[in-house]
Amino acid sequence: MNRSICTIGTGYVGMASMVGLAELGWAVNGYDIMPERIRKLQNGVAPYREAGIEDALHKHLGNGRLAFFESLEEATRGTDLIIVAVGTPARDDGSADLSALYIAVEELAKLKFASWPTVVIRSTVPPGTSDKLAKLVEGWGELVYAPEFLREGSAVYDFLHPDRIVVGSESAGAAVPYVKLFESLQKPVLFTSRSNAELIKCGSNAFLALKISFANEIANLCDVLGATSDDVLRGIGYDRRIGSQFLNPGIGFGGPCFEKDVKSIEHVAATHNMGRELFSATLRVNEAQQKRIADLVEDAVGSLEGLTVGVWGLAFKAGTDDVRDSLALRIIDMLAERGATIVAYDPAVHVTTLPKGSRLVQTALEAANADVLLVLTEWPEFQAIPPQTYASLIRRRMVIDGRNVLDAERVICAGLTYRGVGRPITSNAEPLLLASAL
Ligand SMILES: NC(=O)c1ccc[n+]([C@@H]2O[C@H](COP(=O)([O-])OP(=O)(O)OC[C@H]3O[C@@H](n4cnc5c(N)ncnc54)[C@H](O)[C@@H]3O)[C@@H](O)[C@H]2O)c1
Repeated sequence: MNRSICTIGTGYVGMASMVGLAELGWAVNGYDIMPERIRKLQNGVAPYREAGIEDALHKHLGNGRLAFFESLEEATRGTDLIIVAVGTPARDDGSADLSALYIAVEELAKLKFASWPTVVIRSTVPPGTSDKLAKLVEGWGELVYAPEFLREGSAVYDFLHPDRIVVGSESAGAAVPYVKLFESLQKPVLFTSRSNAELIKCGSNAFLALKISFANEIANLCDVLGATSDDVLRGIGYDRRIGSQFLNPGIGFGGPCFEKDVKSIEHVAATHNMGRELFSATLRVNEAQQKRIADLVEDAVGSLEGLTVGVWGLAFKAGTDDVRDSLALRIIDMLAERGATIVAYDPAVHVTTLPKGSRLVQTALEAANADVLLVLTEWPEFQAIPPQTYASLIRRRMVIDGRNVLDAERVICAGLTYRGVGRPITSNAEPLLLASAL
């Protein structure tokens, strides 16, 4: 198959797109402004941990479907489809920083193309952005907007199993080359305008974030009422009109997308003097949840001054080593401000910045050697560790499960007190607690 696709940006979305398209049989060139990243990719080294990326990278470097270039000109030579997946982080005022996206399209505009290429924007952007970018493509190509809905941790799987393919274009013909790439998946395709496609992406993420904030408010209510959020939210989620996905309480939504995308849509609504209460409330509830988790730890042990808190999990979610806007790190900072020292472990995160005096350790059991244990990422590995192996290490015999990932019954059977989010405190460790208080 001729190589006719180029991807600009080899981050989470760019790499999943490249690998996914190669799996579908297409040949793709990759380009990034980080030359050291390109050199690693040329040698088969993935820039981050993500299921299936590295194996697929080796496979498709070997069969020639993937190639990486330090020069945009070389990467786009002979291409007629250019996918742009660069970052669009939040600015301080909540608006999206689109500078990387503009630079990428401006750089493309300086090149000479033999054919009339289609530029496909896959970065998440506020409504109206692609129409402005389209002006930069006038006279040499077409611009379409096709949002990506993948989740880190299952990025390649999600890319290959989308619920729908949304493509925004002002001319039906311009969208066709892109949609053809996915023909073999036989998924519903929604052809719409660029602004509609942009709003579909922002709206989808805002709704998922809203569900998480809703689950947290219900769980916090369960705590004061002595109810159990597992049953209550399962009961709500069984209603097919609602659905159980994203109805899990915990430490809130972190990571590089939800917070920035809700802030972005809130900012757009405010700019147009339209209602933004729901978006603002979603963010407020989320922000309060980290304080709530820090409070749970403090309530459990009294003052945190001079105590060591063992932390399991730093990545913003399981399956990734991504700590961008990780709420685990925010909670760690709060605990440190309250006088605690942190000993943290994560199966995938081996380098990160922790507060002064705190440290990253190599095993879960090293982190459990603390006054209290706090779980902040929902790694299934944590559930698999028999509580008997860490019970005697935790001096205050207290486990706070910020993700409701542990089996409470097994934890208390090991002689520990267990506290989850919206789960009643369960314990058979009272004598030990009293002993440690004496
Ligand atoms: N991460 C996710 O789960 C996810 C899911 C759906 C959509 N998105 C959206 O997709 C976009 C990309 O997200 P990501 O997580 O892949 O970002 P990322 O930070 O992992 O990757 C962005 C890459 O683009 C490169 N880059 C920046 N400017 C460039 C330029 N001018 N030319 C070439 N390369 C350039 C960076 O060096 C980096 O490698 C964002 O808009 C994000 O909101 C992300």
